[in-house]
Amino acid sequence: MKQIAILGSTGSIGRNALNVARHLKSRFRIVALAARGNIDLLEQQAREFQPLIIGVYDPVKARELQKRLPHQTVVAGMEGLKAVAVCQEAEMVISAIAGTLGLQPTIEAILAGKNIGLANKEALVSGGSLVMRLVKERRVQLIPIDSEHSAIFQCLKGEKQSAVNRIVLTSSGGPFRTWVDEQLLGVTVEQALNHPTWKMGPKVTIDSSTLMNKGLEVIEAYWLFNVALDKIEVIIHPQSIIHSLVEFRDNSMLAQMGVPNMIVPIQYAMTYPDRALGLLEPFDFVKHEKLEFFKPDMNKFRCLALSYEAIRQGGSMPCYMNAANEVLVQRFLAGEISWSEISHQLECLMSSHQVQQINTLEDVLAVDNQAREEAAKFEVMSG
Ligand SMILES: NC(=O)c1ccc[n+]([C@@H]2O[C@H](COP(=O)([O-])OP(=O)(O)OC[C@H]3O[C@@H](n4cnc5c(N)ncnc54)[C@H](OP(=O)(O)O)[C@@H]3O)[C@@H](O)[C@H]2O)c1
Repeated sequence: MKQIAILGSTGSIGRNALNVARHLKSRFRIVALAARGNIDLLEQQAREFQPLIIGVYDPVKARELQKRLPHQTVVAGMEGLKAVAVCQEAEMVISAIAGTLGLQPTIEAILAGKNIGLANKEALVSGGSLVMRLVKERRVQLIPIDSEHSAIFQCLKGEKQSAVNRIVLTSSGGPFRTWVDEQLLGVTVEQALNHPTWKMGPKVTIDSSTLMNKGLEVIEAYWLFNVALDKIEVIIHPQSIIHSLVEFRDNSMLAQMGVPNMIVPIQYAMTYPDRALGLLEPFDFVKHEKLEFFKPDMNKFRCLALSYEAIRQGGSMPCYMNAANEVLVQRFLAGEISWSEISHQLECLMSSHQVQQINTLEDVLAVDNQAREEAAKFEVMSG
């Protein structure tokens, strides 16, 4: 029985990971859970799965949960997240906290020798070189959960790195794929949160609408698969049936496909290297007769171009871009800035950032903080 800890158990990925654990009861035991403050759901999850430890980032909510569950161990703050990440019994940690805050516990889990099911792409964007170095040193498995990376991971199985011509990440194009510039000036929060094919948490949904999500995924692929940036392409595929593909030097292409549902890559990461009985209905080809492909418009969706630029510049730039973007997305959700200002402000902020080297977690956190402060200050200057 595989023992699993989940960072971000109350989120969209975390809840689906628990659905897989329910479905494959005899294969998994959930030994630790963590979230920020949704203690009503955490309480339900804890009563059902009886974890050995529960981490709650918000200290007030942690105290409240401890009162409700007096016989279980509840640990507050970053200490709580770290305790879940290093839980002795866990063999695998699912890293599914939204945002860069997931980086520290993910690193703790790697240092403790845990295999990682990685949904938290921000961890790899901001701390890519550090995370990959530690993964190598500790010889742990880093199994992608993001559907595109899970697809590529599956297509690359048993293949030689030198045989890869290119990796093609597919993108639905988001809700504004066909919108013209004038329309984009008036995007509302509700419209941006209405993703055409995937049901996800708010941060990743807004990132999908700006194509920043795809940009973060390009950086994630760069680190996960160790391929040159010019071999990573993005293609718009509105139906989201092909989750991504790899082209080999003999021009053969392998694609991984299915209806867009995160349960599939989550289950694959949890059962890897096995495949277990799935939860979905068999794919009905006749219902999906049209698969379309378009070139992404990097002028309209600047965040995608900025992501390529960030990884090209390297060093602290991807970390800086990621943290500044997180602040700008929160400000958009709070109604402080418009949708199109997310990419405009991000571009200005990035152009003033002096690239530094990143060697340690402290370096990552320092740049992350700097970006957050500057992105918040930018609001004052431009407001
Ligand atoms: N959803 C998808 O389909 C999808 C697909 C690919 C990749 N991802 C990636 O997976 C990650 C999670 O996405 P999601 O859609 O599941 O997000 P989500 O639904 O917003 O859930 C976020 C989870 O993180 C927890 N969290 C947030 N801040 C925290 C903090 N400071 N301390 C502890 N826990 C914290 C939340 O706890 P509370 O509920 O208590 O706030 C919740 O459990 C993101 O990095 C995203 O990019 C998601």
